[in-house]
Amino acid sequence: MTTPTLRHFLRDDDLSPAEQADVLALAAKMKQHPFAVRPLEGPRTVAVISDKPTLRTQASFAAGIAELGGYPMMVDGKLAQIGTRESVEDTARVLGRQAAAIVWRTGDQSRIDAMAAHAGVPVVNSLTDQFHPCQTLADLLTMTERLGPVAGRTFAFVGDAACNMGHSYVLAGALAGMHVRVGAPAAYAPDAAVVARATEIARSTGGSVEIHTDPAAAVAGADAVATDTWVSRGAEAEAAERERIFRPYQLDRALLDHADPDAIVLHCLPAYRGKEVTAEVLDGPRSVIWDQAENRRHVQKAVLAWLLAHAADAAATGEGA
Ligand code: NVA
Repeated sequence: MTTPTLRHFLRDDDLSPAEQADVLALAAKMKQHPFAVRPLEGPRTVAVISDKPTLRTQASFAAGIAELGGYPMMVDGKLAQIGTRESVEDTARVLGRQAAAIVWRTGDQSRIDAMAAHAGVPVVNSLTDQFHPCQTLADLLTMTERLGPVAGRTFAFVGDAACNMGHSYVLAGALAGMHVRVGAPAAYAPDAAVVARATEIARSTGGSVEIHTDPAAAVAGADAVATDTWVSRGAEAEAAERERIFRPYQLDRALLDHADPDAIVLHCLPAYRGKEVTAEVLDGPRSVIWDQAENRRHVQKAVLAWLLAHAADAAATGEGA
C-alpha cells in the first residue's frame, strides 16, 4: 500500500494517465450536478493569485470555488509582489496558514515549484510560462463531449508550440492516449525534454507525439485542431517578428481542410481574429471555444476536490508536503 502524500497540479504529468481519467470523469459528473460535491463547505478559503492578466481563469476559479462551498480569496500579484517584496517561500508559508489550497498564475515554473514545496497545502498551476494544465484538462473534457473517448484520436496544434499551451498539449494528449501532432516553426517547437517525457508517456498509453514544421502535415486527418496566440503574455516586445514568422501557421479554412471533415476547432482564448486564426474558423460551426471556456470551471473544481481529498488523506497519516 502506498502512503498518501500531499499532491499538487503544477504540470500535466503530475497526474498519471489513470488519475487524469479519474479527474475528467469527476469533472463530467460535477458538470451535471454542480453543487453535489462540497469539499470547501465552511466556507474554507482558496487563494487565487494572478501575476499576469486574467479573465477566464479568475472567473472560472471564483465561480468554481463558490460551487464547492468555499470562498475565493483573489490576490492581485501586482500588490503582493511575490518574490520581490517577500520570497516565494515565505509567501507560501503565510498563505498556507490561511487557505485550504493555492491557485497561482505566474511566470517561470520554478516559482510555482517553490510555492508547492513550502505551502503545506495543494497548489494548482493556473498558467506559467511553461505549462497551462487546467486549460488542457478543459480541452480534453470538451473533446470527449464532442468526439467520445479521445484515446486513439488525433489532435493537432499549430502555431507557437514553445509556449505553455504547446507543452501542456503534448503532455496532456499523451496521457490521454491521443496521437498529438504539432505544426510549428523549428525555432518554436516544444521543449525537447517535454517532448521526450510525452513520448515516454505515450508509449504506455498507446498515443504518440510527432513534431512537424509543415502545418498541413500536422493537421492531416486530425479529429481536433487547436491554436493559440502567437504573442503570449510576456512576449509582447516580439509581436511584429512573431507575426511574420507564424503567418504560414494561421488556422484558416485552407489549413482546416486538411483535417478530418468533422474535425472540431479549439482555442484557449484570448483569440486574435485574423492573426493565429481567421474569424471564419473561430466563429464557424466546428468551433467549440465557448464549451472550452465553460469547462475550465468544471475541470478546476474536479482538480481541487481531488487534491483536497489527497491532502486530507495525507494529513490523516501525518504525511506533509
Ligand atoms: N500562450 C498564452 C495562453 C493563453 C491562455 C499566454 O501565455 O498568454
